[in-house]
Amino acid sequence: MISGHVFIATSLDGYIARLDGDIDWLLQRDDPAEDHGYHDFIADKDVIVMGRGSFEKVLGFDPWPYDRPVLVLSRQLAGTPVPPGLADKVRFSNATPEQAMAQLSSEGVRRVYVDGGQLVQSFIRAGLVEDMVLTTVPVLIGAGRPLFGTLPQDLDLKLVASRSFPSGLVQSTYRFAP
Ligand SMILES: NC(=O)c1ccc[n+]([C@@H]2O[C@H](COP(=O)([O-])OP(=O)(O)OC[C@H]3O[C@@H](n4cnc5c(N)ncnc54)[C@H](OP(=O)(O)O)[C@@H]3O)[C@@H](O)[C@H]2O)c1
Repeated sequence: MISGHVFIATSLDGYIARLDGDIDWLLQRDDPAEDHGYHDFIADKDVIVMGRGSFEKVLGFDPWPYDRPVLVLSRQLAGTPVPPGLADKVRFSNATPEQAMAQLSSEGVRRVYVDGGQLVQSFIRAGLVEDMVLTTVPVLIGAGRPLFGTLPQDLDLKLVASRSFPSGLVQSTYRFAP
């Protein structure tokens, strides 16, 4: 069975980015000596699925930060060429979350890192996220792009683990109740 997994950071007021996509408040916390569990998280993921918003932000990073194949879900980008240099690393698709997971499953993919606020919301609504590692940064940014959105009904989660870092970041792992 294929499964989706989230590893994402928010401000204390629940945003993954400012309204203009800025994440400086998060990048400032980067610590070469502390990856906040990212290495362990990514170790058993086969593919990263992200929304166009996240892809456009990460395009500005040099070097390309991922060592896993990336599938970008985007109605706008589907059918357009992948930027030079990323052809063997990135694919564009206008699939729905369900279609994307079915396609990846048929390719033998088992564990998917789902990234991007709107995209994570869609995957959660579709019941395609198994667990989430949420890292809270002790900063209020007042407005921004939220991690969570509207739902047709409440969703219960189980707290699997919680830890804090000397920097003040708090990380909690949740599993969606079956
Ligand atoms: N704090 C963190 O840890 C973290 C992590 C990841 C990203 N970010 C930041 O968050 C921002 C991007 O997040 P975001 O929420 O704005 O965008 P996003 O979820 O990355 O991308 C949203 C876009 O994906 C496309 N899409 C395709 N299928 C979709 C579906 N089923 N549901 C939702 N969207 C779908 C749509 O573009 P089309 O119109 O092209 O279809 C939509 O506008 C960036 O600034 C990034 O740097 C922060």
